[in-house]
Amino acid sequence: MHMDFSGFYKLSFEERLAKVKAAANLSDDEAKTLIDTGALSMEHADKMVENVFGAIHLPLGLATNFLINGREFLIPMAVEEASVIAAACKSAKQTLPEGFKADADEPIMIGQMQIVGIHDAKSALSRISQNKKEIMLAAIGFMKPHERYGCGARDFRAKTIKTERGDMVILDFYIAVGDAQGANMVNTTLEGVAPIVERICGKGARARLRIVSNLATERKARASAVWKRDIIGEEAIEGVLDAYAFAKADSYRCSTHNKGIMNGIDAVALATGNDWRSVEAGAHSYAAIGGYHPLTEFHKNRDGDLVGSIELPLAVAMVGPAVNGSPTARIALKIMGVKSSKELAMCMACVGLANNMAALTALSTVGIQQGHMKLHARSIATYAGATPEEAEKVAEILAKEKNFNIDFAKEVLAKIRK
Ligand code: MEV
Repeated sequence: MHMDFSGFYKLSFEERLAKVKAAANLSDDEAKTLIDTGALSMEHADKMVENVFGAIHLPLGLATNFLINGREFLIPMAVEEASVIAAACKSAKQTLPEGFKADADEPIMIGQMQIVGIHDAKSALSRISQNKKEIMLAAIGFMKPHERYGCGARDFRAKTIKTERGDMVILDFYIAVGDAQGANMVNTTLEGVAPIVERICGKGARARLRIVSNLATERKARASAVWKRDIIGEEAIEGVLDAYAFAKADSYRCSTHNKGIMNGIDAVALATGNDWRSVEAGAHSYAAIGGYHPLTEFHKNRDGDLVGSIELPLAVAMVGPAVNGSPTARIALKIMGVKSSKELAMCMACVGLANNMAALTALSTVGIQQGHMKLHARSIATYAGATPEEAEKVAEILAKEKNFNIDFAKEVLAKIRK
C-alpha cells in the first residue's frame, strides 16, 4: 500500500506510530510493543546472555523515501546518533522518482577449518582432493536438517598457508544458509566434518579452528542511485567527488568515510536484531582487500549527474534466535516487508549508500556541524528540563548563540518561561 510519508518528521511520535501501524498493518499489540521500552522482559534477557542485570534502550526511527527496484520500503533504524536517520531520508528523497537499484548474492557463507600437525602439506592436499566426495557427503549430511530452507553444503576448497607455526592446511567450505545469518549451522557442520578430515590428512593431523568467516565475499549486496544535477546542484556533485577522491587516496579519511556508511547499515542491523559486529567485520575486511578503500564509488555520468554505488558483504538474517527472540526486531522486519535475507541486505546497502552520500554532501559544502548542532541543542534543551515545545525555542537560541552549555540552556529556558 502506498502512503505519503512526506512531513513524517514533523509529526508527534504518537502520530508517527499510528502511520507506521497503518502502513505495515501492525496489530494493536505490535504497536504497543514498539513504544514499550520494557518490551524485552528480564526473563527473556536473562536467557539471551550471561550475568544479566538490566537492559538498555535505543531510539527506533524510520527511514522514509526509499524506493528500491521500484518498490517502496519503510526502513527502521536503531541508533543513538542524531542526524543519521534524517540524512538517510534526505539523500534517498533526492534519488526520486527513480530511487535505488539493488541486488544481492545467494546467501552463501564461508566456513573455515584449520588443520595443523601436517608434515607434508602437498600430500595432505592431494589426499583431501582424492577424498573430496566423502568430505562433501559428510558436510551435506550435517546440513540435512536445514535443507528444507534451501540450505546445504555446496563445495569446499583446500589450500595451504605458511604461518609462523609452520604449514597449515585450510579448508574453506561454501555453505548456503538461506535466511539465517548462518554462523551456527556452519560451525556445527564444520565441527561434525572435522574428524573425517583429520583421518584423511593422516597421522598427527589435528583440526583446530572450525568457524565461519565474517569476510562473506560470496554474500555481497550492491546498490546504486543517480543524484540529478538539477536536484542537488553542481556544487554538491563536485563536493562529493572531491570527498570521494580524498577517501580513495588517504586511509585516515577512508576510515571515517566507511564509518558514515556503517552508520546507516549498523542502525538497520540493530533494529532488525542482527549481529552488527559481524556486519562491521565483513565490511571493513572487505574494504581492506587490495588496500583499504571506500565501500562506495562515485562518478559523474554524461548528463553531469552524480552516480553512486556500493558493494559489501552483508551476512544478515531474517530468522534465528536473535531475530526471533527480539519482540521489536520481528516488528521491524514486518514494517520493512522484506521477504528474504537477500532483500534485507539490499535495503541495508541502499541505506549505507544514502548515508554516505548525505555525509559527503554536507561535509563538502556547509559542513555537518550546522545540522548536527541544531539537533544536539534540542537534546541539551530537553536535558535542561524543557518540554518538547520549549525545547525547539531553546535550541534555536543555543544554536544562534553557538553556546551549548547546559547552564546557558537553563538560563534561556528560565527566560522563556517568564
Ligand atoms: C559521523 O558519524 C559520520 C561522518 O563522520 C561520516 C563522514 O565523515 O563521511 C559524518
